[in-house]
Amino acid sequence: MSITIRFNVNGAEATVTTDPERRLLDVLREDLQLTGTKYGCGEGQCGACLVHLDGEPTRSCLVPVRDAEGTSVTTIEGLARGDTLHAVQEAFIEEGAMQCGYCTSGMILAAVALLRRTPDPTHEQIVSGMDGHLCRCNGYVKIVNAVRRAAETIQGASHA
Ligand code: FES
Repeated sequence: MSITIRFNVNGAEATVTTDPERRLLDVLREDLQLTGTKYGCGEGQCGACLVHLDGEPTRSCLVPVRDAEGTSVTTIEGLARGDTLHAVQEAFIEEGAMQCGYCTSGMILAAVALLRRTPDPTHEQIVSGMDGHLCRCNGYVKIVNAVRRAAETIQGASHA
């Protein structure tokens, strides 16, 4: 049985008529063509599918799309403002904090959420904030450096 679900995605209203038990991850990728959100494990373990749901970092492989009704979802495609990348996106590029890139959208969205909660995180807070995001190729040093760089950029902008 299909139902119609309405929610906001990256600032625009989205309407999908679908099986309400489908994963939000699959609806984003297959119905809305937002393929920046990745399927990794499908079990909530890797973080590749992370989006913001009403501002909260959320593993979209664990969310039936019915639970998205009336919410606001942000995916990696919704982070930049026009041609201006988010400071975390810039920092990942500057630090070379990606290799194959498969985990990167989830990592970046996790980092954005972390820096909203904790604008000036310690090394330990960055490590624990990014915990549960698996990267198979890059190692984590550059990722931690990128989050630190983004924190400094955002702090600098807010004090400018
Ligand atoms: Fe959702 Fe791995 S695909 S956590």
